[in-house]
Amino acid sequence: DKGNHRHFMEKEIYEQPEIISHALGNYIDFAAHTVKKNDTAIDFGKVSGLAIAACGTAYLSGLIGKYWFERYARLPVEIDVASEFRYRELPLSPSQAALFISQSGETADTLASLRYCKDLGLKIGAVVNVRESTIAREADAIFPILAGPEIGVASTKAFTCQLAVLAALAIGAGRARGTVNADDEKAMVKHLAEMPRIMSRVLNDIQPEIEGLSRELSRFKDVLYLGRGTSFPLAMEGALKLKEISYIHAEGYAAGELKHGPIALIDENMPVIVIAPHDRFFEKTVSNMQEVAARGGRIIFITDEKGAAASKLPTMATIALPNVDEIIAPMIFSLPIQLLAYHTAVFMGTDVDQPRNLAKSVTVE
Ligand code: M6R
Repeated sequence: DKGNHRHFMEKEIYEQPEIISHALGNYIDFAAHTVKKNDTAIDFGKVSGLAIAACGTAYLSGLIGKYWFERYARLPVEIDVASEFRYRELPLSPSQAALFISQSGETADTLASLRYCKDLGLKIGAVVNVRESTIAREADAIFPILAGPEIGVASTKAFTCQLAVLAALAIGAGRARGTVNADDEKAMVKHLAEMPRIMSRVLNDIQPEIEGLSRELSRFKDVLYLGRGTSFPLAMEGALKLKEISYIHAEGYAAGELKHGPIALIDENMPVIVIAPHDRFFEKTVSNMQEVAARGGRIIFITDEKGAAASKLPTMATIALPNVDEIIAPMIFSLPIQLLAYHTAVFMGTDVDQPRNLAKSVTVE
């Protein structure tokens, strides 16, 4: 049931504040401002490293998870798309744990990667939405994302719920490893607890602007998404969403890679969407934006209030989100990229919930 929404995708986008708050309740103690004790078969305090494999959007949430596990828990993370991971003959040791992220829990390549790690004696964790799935069944530990059924082929709420779960796991791992102290844990948990309310506000505030912008975006054939740090996987997610449902060709690049190739493409016919919260990477990303502007590129700047005030570059549009802590920024910044893809597709008249050639669950290689 779509309720009063035109598409499941729209419904699932707007469900996120409520769903994510419910999902977080499984991992954090809102009253004590702590991450709940992880009593699964995986002891993040003891493992020597993590391997992560997943496909599509789930891979991109894993990539953001990598930044968190490495930064907060000082745990090295090896991550790859499952279709490569399964054949790489990656040397792994039983002292490591492996996480497989999958909304459906049935993705063939992700399952094959799981079995590869299992054979090598690693403890297996499944970050899944469907708890009765094959990936969940074959895992030693299940970390449910509790997003509820996701019908739209383009993943939205499963992505942000995967992020919320990975953030909680990374903070918990940091606690267990002594790299996150009680004060830092409390501060980060408070930000996570405030996140659903901020998400509601953002969804409400940016909708009209994004809808207008989508109309303009639909005229273009190619789009480049740029980001740095955790905004880099988000740039790839933004590009994936856009191409999946609007069929506009889009690429997500690390902002620093611009001058190593893609800058050759910059002209007035390829808008560049820059995701840049005012974080420790902001100045660097803005200097990449400058390179785009200097070559006549059109910029769509997705930033926060501080970032919007700090940059004087001319843009095609500037979306200024509220200033938020960096632990929740990826979830908050997911919202404009989801809405941008959604409204562009609606404007172009594509089949938003059932885009051509795509299946919700990919059970063959
Ligand atoms: O069910 P899974 O999470 O394993 O699916 C992985 C990908 O097929 C999936 O995320 C796909 O990329 C989505 N259509 C993205 O919107």
